Amino acid sequence: MTRGKIMRASAPAKVMLFGEHFVVYGSPAILGAIDRRVQATARCINSAEINISSNVGFSTSYSSQTVEEPRLHYSEGQRFLHPLYAAIYGILKDHLVERNIGVRVDITSDIPWGAGLGSSAASCVATVAAVGSLFDKPQKGWVYSMALRAEKIIHKNPSGADCYISTFGGLIYYIKKRQNRKIRSKRDLSLVVINTGIRHSTKAQISLVKDFRVQNRPLFNSLSNHVTRICNEAVSAIGLGDKKRLGDLMNENHSLLSELGISNDEVNDLVKLCLDNGALGAKLTGAGGGGSVIALIPDKFQTDFITKMGKKKSSQCIPVKIGSGGLLIY
Ligand code: MEV
Repeated sequence: MTRGKIMRASAPAKVMLFGEHFVVYGSPAILGAIDRRVQATARCINSAEINISSNVGFSTSYSSQTVEEPRLHYSEGQRFLHPLYAAIYGILKDHLVERNIGVRVDITSDIPWGAGLGSSAASCVATVAAVGSLFDKPQKGWVYSMALRAEKIIHKNPSGADCYISTFGGLIYYIKKRQNRKIRSKRDLSLVVINTGIRHSTKAQISLVKDFRVQNRPLFNSLSNHVTRICNEAVSAIGLGDKKRLGDLMNENHSLLSELGISNDEVNDLVKLCLDNGALGAKLTGAGGGGSVIALIPDKFQTDFITKMGKKKSSQCIPVKIGSGGLLIY
């Protein structure tokens, strides 16, 4: 490791347009990188520590010499940052020949945390890339696999979609452990993200779905088949620039997610409010149980929609462009 070297990387957040949760069990999903990012800055330090600090308010320190398992007495910050630590340690252990050497990572994010926009995956991707760059020129495939290892510590059984889109960017049709394909959109695609302000735990939501699947296998399979059809039709609608059809498909997907039990009254009310205020379609995005709703608005009414929503609800409304670039290292 070159002392004094500083490396930076940034990775985008994402929205799941279709297929969340079912994608964990092998159905397709459609997701896009958005123009909101996490930046990680990594530097070598002269002490045997891994120090991580994040502008979401957490800052903590771990050993760089021996692996630390998550502990019961961990503070909220240590628990929150542990997967990043594990990813950094995984990279360092192959390179640390000198004692009393460590790494400091500073993370800045303009992605609301716990809002279903992939902030944890983007943090893992940016951190792995910045730390990896202290030693090497990391390839995106390597960054993806190391970031996914860290995400597995958080969610146990992720589909890998969040880390994938954050690394490679764009708009993709994703199937777990398969070749993924980019989707070409006839027109620029933009959405409005409305954050309910209710932070969710992706791990808890994934566990709810796991139980649902065990208890209702035939229903789960039929919902999965329905989601597969929705994703396939959505690829055509995006290709043709058919926003009306895309909006209808979003509404259909939201109903399936409600049936799966991962929506709640606040999210359903917000979806209805979006539709009452001119959205062509609206649905929860990501793990659900709070987090964010995405709404597809006819282009010329977007500003109007955001003003109206702002008057009715104190939730944060963010216009986002879909299909942004992936990981950058500099
Ligand atoms: C979370 O952004 C998306 C989920 O489908 C989980 C996953 O794909 O790993 C809920």
